[in-house]
Amino acid sequence: MNFSRFSLGLMRLNDWGFTTSQLIRFIEQNLELGITAMDHADIYGSYTCEENFGKAIAGKPLLRSRMQLVTKCGIKLVSENRPAHTIHAYDTCMRHILQSAENSLKYLQTDYLDLLLIHRPDPLMNVDEIAEAFRQLKAEGKVLHVGVSNFSASQFDLLQSRLDFPLVTNQVEVSVLKLDSIYDGVLDQCQQYRIKPMSWSPLAGGNLFHSSEARAIRLRKALDNICKATGGYSMDQIALAWLLKHPSGIIPVIGSGNIDRIKKAVDSEKIILTGDQWFSILEASTGVEVP
Ligand SMILES: NC(=O)c1ccc[n+]([C@@H]2O[C@H](COP(=O)([O-])OP(=O)(O)OC[C@H]3O[C@@H](n4cnc5c(N)ncnc54)[C@H](OP(=O)(O)O)[C@@H]3O)[C@@H](O)[C@H]2O)c1
Repeated sequence: MNFSRFSLGLMRLNDWGFTTSQLIRFIEQNLELGITAMDHADIYGSYTCEENFGKAIAGKPLLRSRMQLVTKCGIKLVSENRPAHTIHAYDTCMRHILQSAENSLKYLQTDYLDLLLIHRPDPLMNVDEIAEAFRQLKAEGKVLHVGVSNFSASQFDLLQSRLDFPLVTNQVEVSVLKLDSIYDGVLDQCQQYRIKPMSWSPLAGGNLFHSSEARAIRLRKALDNICKATGGYSMDQIALAWLLKHPSGIIPVIGSGNIDRIKKAVDSEKIILTGDQWFSILEASTGVEVP
């Protein structure tokens, strides 16, 4: 799958308070900026965000054809919209994956999903069942590509070992405030297989700006130093440029409903951090020099 350099995350869609026509305009503006990968999950907005997005693109095949629809399945939320769910749980059995994909197709008002991800590794996951569900959905043309989210490198390899087509991404939490995947083998594995990881909460869900913890304060100072050195760029842009510099080709999934912030995010691609600048941010995040 050919991803755009950034993806738009729709988890917070209901918080943005758009009317349908405002949402259509917002989607168009993102497409004009080159952001074509629209990141959903069945559970966002307690199972309502896909539907609200679907209403915006309904009956607009030209608009649909300009984007890639990414969605996820495998989490079962307790929700008034899913009265049968009695406990927050995971379900990655074949029946659940097939049913979730059908629901997403219906709510998003589309004939096909560009990419379906298993949202989280399920301690009870039977990878043969996931593989069979993926095979069936691809054979029927309902899903073009498949991948995972929040998987460890070994979980990724386990599922990949049952497939004769590639998992195309592992969507993980990575940002200046969340470094695990840089060290635990997940981003190494993406480079090894030449697939691009997607970064959820690339600005730590806004905590980078709001948190009063020492780590966030250190980071803001380090980012601000680079803002001054680069002349005119802002902290969010430097934090994104830090992700973009990683050789695995991280695709930040931008969670903002503010088009000016999204324009700035896209502009961050112009920033080429020096190695020293990159390491000064790493040092501010960990609080120690690299050994
Ligand atoms: N796979 C998974 O398990 C998983 C988990 C969580 C999320 N996701 C995906 O990742 C996407 C992005 O996650 P996210 O929304 O947490 O991403 P994010 O981009 O890190 O955070 C977005 C939040 O930060 C705020 N923000 C952005 N720039 C700001 C600034 N300069 N100053 C102050 N606040 C700022 C935004 O507010 P404004 O709207 O006001 O700009 C918004 O509330 C989600 O939409 C979803 O698609 C996936």
